[in-house]
Amino acid sequence: MTAIRSVRCLPFLLLLLALVLSQCAGPLPSPSITPAATASPTPEPPTPAATGDPYVARRLRMVEETMRRRGLKDERVLAVMAKVPRHEFVLPRYLDQAYDDHPLPIGYGQTISQPYIVALMTELLQLQPGDKVLEIGTGSGYQAAVLAELVGEVWTIEIIPELSQQAAERFRRLGYDKIHTRVADGYYGWPEEAPFDAIIVTAAPDHIPQPLVDQLADGGRLVLPVGPPGGYQTLWQLIKEGDEIKAFNLGGVRFVPMVGAGQRGSAP
Ligand SMILES: C[S@@+](CC[C@H](N)C(=O)[O-])C[C@H]1O[C@@H](n2cnc3c(N)ncnc32)[C@H](O)[C@@H]1O
Repeated sequence: MTAIRSVRCLPFLLLLLALVLSQCAGPLPSPSITPAATASPTPEPPTPAATGDPYVARRLRMVEETMRRRGLKDERVLAVMAKVPRHEFVLPRYLDQAYDDHPLPIGYGQTISQPYIVALMTELLQLQPGDKVLEIGTGSGYQAAVLAELVGEVWTIEIIPELSQQAAERFRRLGYDKIHTRVADGYYGWPEEAPFDAIIVTAAPDHIPQPLVDQLADGGRLVLPVGPPGGYQTLWQLIKEGDEIKAFNLGGVRFVPMVGAGQRGSAP
């Protein structure tokens, strides 16, 4: 009887053994994966101990209070905003305001943009790691540095030579060696390097510069403020799809005006 009962129980015992073994087994070893060129891991937020940077806590607070709380969601952009040292891009007398959410003077009548707007415009560019990006209005170089953390190479144009030179020196000092600078009227873009996957304009023209639209790749994004100097300006996101341009109105903003012959409608 005992032997018969054991035989009857055998399938049950085998099942039980299989279950026990499967619980004891560890997770399958993960294959060693080399990240593809297009992989876009979210950068780790910095810690003061790791960087020796006393501004880390202020940057993290800036991201939480002025960006995430106001609806920005792209974790890669937020991590970069928590990483790029904005205090390196402001004039020494404004160091204590480097992480406040407002623009600051950078000389020559120009400003470094408000951090929230930098993050918003960067998010709207929908960047992928391999993208080619053009910025019009280098200014301090802060926006270009943010872009360079997200993509391979950045081309940035500034019309005021002194600002362009100062920004280039900052890029060298901070190790941003994939940012290409040029002194020119950015209205005309950078045709030799076109097409671009994304173009950002950080000074407001009173109309959309056609050369920038022409220099967008298919699927490319153009983010820019448009409106009269000192008047009501609108932030636009344009997306090129074949011969079509889709335009999205993101609401009112205030930027310094785009200057130069292109914007005035004069010949280059
Ligand atoms: C708001 S500031 C730029 C802020 C800058 N992106 C930063 O991160 O500091 C606008 C910049 O656009 C520049 N600008 C104005 N018109 C321009 C033009 N036609 N071409 C290139 N730069 C221009 C100004 O000289 C100024 O430095």
